[in-house]
Amino acid sequence: MTKLGAPVRRTSILVGFKPIDDLHREFEDILDALNDPAEADYGTHLLALHEHLLRHCATEESFMLQENYPHYARHKRAHEQLLESISQIRRQFDAGEIDAVRRYAHDLMNWFTLHASAEDAELAAYLKG
Ligand SMILES: [Fe+2]
Ligand SMILES: [Fe+2]
Repeated sequence: MTKLGAPVRRTSILVGFKPIDDLHREFEDILDALNDPAEADYGTHLLALHEHLLRHCATEESFMLQENYPHYARHKRAHEQLLESISQIRRQFDAGEIDAVRRYAHDLMNWFTLHASAEDAELAAYLKG
């Protein structure tokens, strides 16, 4: 089993726009469950994470379209990469690659924090303005 340090903690995943912040808190709860060693029901948690991310990305994208957000294409590309990564890791889980799942779950908050502080924060500022 690969030894992993504690995942990076929640610094800047909130962006100041409630519908998006609600999604971000929900994401964090699901990811915490996935990272909880006492739980380790990866199949169930990966499915919950996948369902959440589909809804999370679709919700943000519908805000962008409704409000003619100028960086829609760029932000959507980032979402597509994220959704491809969760599909991929679920295939790896099905193939028994548990260490890969553990690494993915551990690293995902780093990716998410960057995405939230860049793409989602910029979107939130636009939606509020
Ligand atoms: Fe988001
Ligand atoms: Fe986003």
